[in-house]
Amino acid sequence: MRFGQLLLPSNLCLSPLAGYTNLPFRLVLRELGGLGLATTDLVNARSLVEQRRAALKLIETRPADQPLAVQLFGSVPEEMRDAAVWLEAAGVASVDINMGCPVRKVCRVGGGSAMMTELGKTSRLVAGMVNAVRIPITAKMRLGWDDDNLTAPELARALEDAGIAAVFVHGRTREQGFSGAVNLAGIRAVVQAVNAIPVIGNGDITTPQAARRMIDDTGCAGISIGRGAFYNPWIFHHTRHYLATGELLTEPSFDERIRVLRRHLELMIEVFTEAHGCRMFRKVAPWYAKRFGPANEFTRHVVQISSLADFNTVLDRYVLWRHQFLDERGELKPKFRPAPLVASFMQPPGVASREHIPVPKGPVEAW
Ligand SMILES: Cc1cc2nc3c(=O)[nH]c(=O)nc-3n(C[C@H](O)[C@H](O)[C@H](O)COP(=O)(O)O)c2cc1C
Repeated sequence: MRFGQLLLPSNLCLSPLAGYTNLPFRLVLRELGGLGLATTDLVNARSLVEQRRAALKLIETRPADQPLAVQLFGSVPEEMRDAAVWLEAAGVASVDINMGCPVRKVCRVGGGSAMMTELGKTSRLVAGMVNAVRIPITAKMRLGWDDDNLTAPELARALEDAGIAAVFVHGRTREQGFSGAVNLAGIRAVVQAVNAIPVIGNGDITTPQAARRMIDDTGCAGISIGRGAFYNPWIFHHTRHYLATGELLTEPSFDERIRVLRRHLELMIEVFTEAHGCRMFRKVAPWYAKRFGPANEFTRHVVQISSLADFNTVLDRYVLWRHQFLDERGELKPKFRPAPLVASFMQPPGVASREHIPVPKGPVEAW
């Protein structure tokens, strides 16, 4: 997959997840393979232009963390342009624009000419950025405000005309939030609306089969995975293999999950210091635990760690406690195995809302 001149190593991308898609998580995913492009958390363009410490920390990177996209958030064209110029000079591979809500005003006043005004404004902002840098500028959007205002196809087309190199589409409306099923027909409409740029489908991909289904049903050029990477950091490697061969690799063993969990914490400590890294890890480790089988004993204690020593104690105790659920070969007894993950758009009708992927707390209005 190509974004303008940028050739990506695979068509599998990591979606921005504010509070999670930091350098340690990206490095863990890259070490496991399959990832074509990783994106940072959203970064306020003005804070970046003003070189605020928090903004600079969000874009902290290393040579192994390439190719890297930075997602910018902002509505002042000059700030967005200057931030893009600065990022290009810093070696970033592409810049993504958060369009979580580019058409909010439009939908409030009922579309029509207001929509075109807003589209025009957005296109000018994009053109200002595109003309100022050589690296690709991409955009990430939802399908629209609600089912009566599916504006993404029109927006994507206008952005393509303004020079955008690719669009990422989360196949839900703003009204849906994170509930209900991802609308594959909605993503397909965006694919059909653009001329040549890649459209990357996003939403609820937790298995390689779900990635295959999204590509087949929408015609999207690539897919982007957010929460599925929490559950399963191996998802990019497994999906790449499955798309190429049709063969499903076996799920990682418990020992492999623990190895990667430890590696993740090690990197958190390296990048954020031991105290802060461990505090941040309190919200990360429970996601890994969702695939451990019974794990309440782990989750209850890991959310209190303040040091690597605390973590080791919690883990050692948990490994002993978990023995009661294992058979003689050291595998989880069948009744304790976690249920297979199934994407919302692959569930029978009516099941999706009960089986949805949890959404961590945060500013959903910007996602
Ligand atoms: C905790 C969290 C943080 C998010 N942060 C961002 C963000 O910074 N920028 C953005 O465009 N989308 C953000 N999103 C939306 C995701 O990128 C993605 O579009 C959405 O989660 C659907 O994909 P998934 O089902 O694979 O997670 C966030 C979602 C979650 C759950």
